[in-house]
Amino acid sequence: MQGWNSPCTSSFRLRLQFSAMTSLDSIPVITIDGPTASGKGTVAQLVADALHFHYLDSGALYRLTALSALTGNVALDDETALVDVAGALKSTFQGGEVFLNGDNVSMAIRAEKVGNTASKIAAFPAVRQALVELQLRFREAPGLIADGRDMGTVIFPNACLKVFLTASAEARAERRYKQLIGKGFSANMHDLLKDLNERDARDANRAVAPLKPAEGAYLLDTSYLTVNQAVQQVLDWYGAVSKSA
Ligand code: CDP
Repeated sequence: MQGWNSPCTSSFRLRLQFSAMTSLDSIPVITIDGPTASGKGTVAQLVADALHFHYLDSGALYRLTALSALTGNVALDDETALVDVAGALKSTFQGGEVFLNGDNVSMAIRAEKVGNTASKIAAFPAVRQALVELQLRFREAPGLIADGRDMGTVIFPNACLKVFLTASAEARAERRYKQLIGKGFSANMHDLLKDLNERDARDANRAVAPLKPAEGAYLLDTSYLTVNQAVQQVLDWYGAVSKSA
C-alpha cells in the first residue's frame, strides 16, 4: 500500500531533500498511544531523539488546559468556559520544558491533581476539538513522534507507524510512584492505583476519542521491558515499515 510517495519510505525522504514538497501529509509521523503511566512519554521522547524528530506530548496540552482552568478558577463542568481556556493557551515547549504565559510550568503540570483534572476535561468533545489545530502544528520536517491517547485514531490517522503501549496497572502505578517521588511530590501507592484505574476507565469509556489501539497499531506491553528495549522495538518497527513501504 505504501510506495514511493509514502512518508515512511527512505526513498521519499531522500526525494524530499531535493524537492520543494512541503505538504504536511508528506512528513512522517509515529504515534505512540496508551494508558496513563504506560511509559509513552519516556519512550516517545527517546525515539524522537534517536530519529531527530520533533516530539508532541499531547497530554501536556490537556494538562496545561487543566492548570489554566484551575488557576483561573474556571468551573470544571463548564464546557464552554473550558473551550475558551483551551483556545487561549499561550504555551511553548523548549528543551523539554513547558511554559504557560511565559512561566515555566514543567513541574506544576505533573501534579496528580492537574493530571486528574486533565483526564476529566478531556472527556468534553469541544475541549478536544479546541486542541486539534494546536496538535497538528507540531507536524514539522523531518518527522514527528506524537504521544497521547488518540494520536493514531483521531489526530494523525495517516501516521506511518502506530504503536499502542501498555503495561499492567501495578507496573504503571509503581512507575508513576517513582516518577512523582523523583520530582519531589508526595505519593501513595494505594491512591495512585485507584486514580489510575479511574483514569483508565474514563479514558476508555468516553464518547469521543476513547482510548483504544488504532487500526493496524503495533501493541507493545512494556511490563517486563526496560526503557531501552521498548525504544529499540519501536525503532525496529519503524525501520521495517520504512523498508517495506
Ligand atoms: O501522564 P499520563 O499518561 O497520565 O497523562 P498525560 O498523557 O499527561 O495526559 C493527561 C490526561 O489528558 C490523560 O489522563 C487523558 O485523559 C488526557 N489526554 C487525552 O484525552 N488525549 C490525549 N491525546 C492526551 C491526553
